[in-house]
Amino acid sequence: MSGVFSWLVRRGLPLIPKPIVGRVAMRYVAGAKLEDALRTVGELAGEGAVATLDVLGEEVTAADEAAANTDAYVRVLAAIAERGLAANVSVKPTSLGLKIDEQLAHANIERIVVAAASHDSFVRIDMEDISTTDATLRIHRDLALRHGHVGVVLQAYLRRTLDDIGDLPPDSSVRLCKGIYIEPPEHAYRAYETVRANYLYALEKLFAAGHRVAVATHDEHLVCGALALIDRLGVPADRREFQMLLGVTAPLRRTLLAAGHRLRVYVPFGRDWYPYSIRRLRENPEVARHVVRAIFGGT
Ligand code: FDA
Repeated sequence: MSGVFSWLVRRGLPLIPKPIVGRVAMRYVAGAKLEDALRTVGELAGEGAVATLDVLGEEVTAADEAAANTDAYVRVLAAIAERGLAANVSVKPTSLGLKIDEQLAHANIERIVVAAASHDSFVRIDMEDISTTDATLRIHRDLALRHGHVGVVLQAYLRRTLDDIGDLPPDSSVRLCKGIYIEPPEHAYRAYETVRANYLYALEKLFAAGHRVAVATHDEHLVCGALALIDRLGVPADRREFQMLLGVTAPLRRTLLAAGHRLRVYVPFGRDWYPYSIRRLRENPEVARHVVRAIFGGT
């Protein structure tokens, strides 16, 4: 597919009927129900991978919706513990009320962290758009210092990320990703190679500071750069892991697993799959081909 056609499909994704998007996007989502996600975790365990479960949903505007999402996470943690699965959870602050009130989101995330601690599990706080960064880091800092069992995400495209690393509590757990939201240039680097360079710089700072680091990328250049850093700095196995999204680059996943690295797959599930899937499809270099196939038949 030509680059122009692919660009047009990416721009036009919101105009494509939902059922067609759904056919293409299902590779990124385990299913609608917790049972679907638990089955996927079992399949990943068969490959040697561990998982983090995300209950799909974001930007809630009512406190009772945020409470229902919080309850859902508490149930997920109980189900993981009951079945003895190698998985933890990832939460989006806006799905737990951040856009309503920071204290509300803080209390909801704390409830999930306390539940995780009771199962000796772990909560990763995903990072959303720049309007949420300060509050998310504040919530993380407070919960990490008071409870542990929680970590945060930093985005290599943000100009502030190197400073944010300096402000982390000691022995933090950080997932480093490139960043997915569309941010203005005063906040974010846009050029592909600049984001890569900042990623490797940030990664080195995180490792050197002794934090526990999740290298979250499918970019083979960055994976190789991370492996070189791990070697050069002698980063112990319990201070790092790789992370990838469900449905993306299975061969790279297998390469890392075969080399004995811990690899965690992000497994989203739930009924609210549309916004997450649109973001994933925009990043898929093959999106145009998949969409054309979904419209005209085939797999
Ligand atoms: P890049 O986008 O350059 O992709 C590298 C290669 O991977 C592509 O060339 C392609 O081959 C393949 N690829 C990537 N995406 C694909 C797709 N959707 N379908 C098919 N192939 C694809 N972001 C954020 O802002 N906040 C967060 O909390 C998180 N959390 C998170 C958790 C985990 C486990 C991962 C892996 C990623 C995130 N992200 C995120 C998303 C992240 O910021 C980023 O948008 C994506 O990982 C894509 O960036 P890559 O580093 O993979 O590079």
